[in-house]
Order: sequence, then C-alpha cells, then structure tokens
Amino acid sequence: MNQHAVSSNPIPQPPFQIVSQLQQSGYARIGKKQIGRDDSFNRALNLLERQFEKLPSDTPAATSRRFRSICGYTLLPSGHLLPGVVANDLQPVRFFDYYPYASKSCQLALGQNAQEKTNINNGWPNNPALKYLIAFDHQLLPKIPDWRDHPLQVFVQLLRYAPTSGAPAIARPNCFHQDGCPFLFHHHVKSQNVSGGCTVLADPSAVERHPCDVPEESIRELCWMEQPLDSLAIADQRIAHHSSLVEIDREGEDAYRDVLIIQFSPQTTDHSYTIN
Ligand SMILES: [Fe+2]
Repeated sequence: MNQHAVSSNPIPQPPFQIVSQLQQSGYARIGKKQIGRDDSFNRALNLLERQFEKLPSDTPAATSRRFRSICGYTLLPSGHLLPGVVANDLQPVRFFDYYPYASKSCQLALGQNAQEKTNINNGWPNNPALKYLIAFDHQLLPKIPDWRDHPLQVFVQLLRYAPTSGAPAIARPNCFHQDGCPFLFHHHVKSQNVSGGCTVLADPSAVERHPCDVPEESIRELCWMEQPLDSLAIADQRIAHHSSLVEIDREGEDAYRDVLIIQFSPQTTDHSYTIN
C-alpha cells in the first residue's frame, strides 16, 4: 500500500495482470474488488451517485436522453491534483487544446460541448471517491518516460443515460471512435431498470463505423459493465470504442445508467508522443 497525494485514502498497488493486459492488449477489465474500497470511500461514492440525479441535459443532443457534467484537473508529477483547465467557473473546458487526434465524429460531439462550465472548487469535483478513482487509474498508466516530469491533464465526465418509453438513450458519437486522449477509463457507477449500454471495443480501423458495419474480426471484446465499479481501461490510440443503446426495461419506472469517464492526457504542446 502506498499513500497518494490525490486522495487521503491509501491506493492499492494495481494488480500486475491489469497493467500487463493494458500494455499487451490496449485495454483491461477492472473488477470492483480490485479497486479496493473502504467505508469512507463508500460514503463518498454514495454522495457522488446523487450528483448524477442533478446533471444538466447534454444540450446539443437533448433527444438522446443523455445528461452530463465535465470537469478538468491538472495532475502534477508529485501526485497532487490541481484545478487546471477550469480555473474558475468563468473559464470553459477547452477540449481541442488537449485532444489533437480525436476521431472526427468525436471532435464534433466534444466541440458542441466546449462551452460547458463547471466550478471545480465546489461540489462533485472535490468528491473524495472521485479523487481516489483518479489516483487508482493513474497508477495503472504504463510508465511512459516522457510523462514522468510533466503534468497530466485529467478530464472527468459524469454521464447519465436515462431512456424513456420509446426514447432510448444514445451515446455520442454513435459509432466507433477514439476520444483523442491517450488513456481513458470507464467506471460503471449505478444503473436501474435498463438494458444495453455495452461498451464494444474494436481495432482502430473500425473508427467512424457502427458495429453493424464492422467485420467480426475487427471486434475485440463486448464489455458488459453491470455491477457498481465494473471498470474498463483503454489505450485510446490502440483501441476504438462504442457504447450501445440504453433502453428502458419497465415502463413507468425510473430508468438510468450512470457512468464515470476519466481521461488522461499529457499537458504539453508537443502531441507527437506515441503509445505503443
Ligand atoms: Fe468515447
């Protein structure tokens, strides 16, 4: 066990198998037991779960039944997490500065939200469970020499898919894509009364295409994440991803699927890095 500056909770050493699989395959599944929670983490996670009930509509896609908030941080080499991209609530998150190779469809989706504002100094960005997960994910990143001495940009998205009868919740972009940050993590937080929402992984050759239009041999894995903290690590340059429709099971009852996305990118103007 070691102490990480991002969180007051001890962060468990990442299981070797996860690090190894991420390096070899470009992705790795992570189980909730491997994240190593304690009671204080659970209490903080419960508070974070309630934030998903308050998310604003993902405005440009109001019909997609998706709700989202975004926050950006700077993670220093010392492990300290600072408000970076969002210095205060007047500064917008600017994706394009940091995500130079995102798939075209993904850039369109992100660009439409580039003016979203989140105040990092109050509310959910300071949640201890969230900071713990950032620290946990950070430990799984391969040791890339050029990254050690540079701050990392960390973007966090809280996403709720809330289908209604006859209106499924649709991911954006609704095709295979790469987010444009070298490493991203999907953490399933909570869901109720829904089906779907499978994360499908494929070779980068599938980018811009729907899974129905991709040859079977290009599909790497179907990742169903149903339990709280079922998680997935992706090396974005090596693996394209897509999330399937989320549909309601029983009409007339609340239906939602809540997902936390954490993305890591070097905070540098040199984007010539390559992750092998
Ligand atoms: Fe994505």
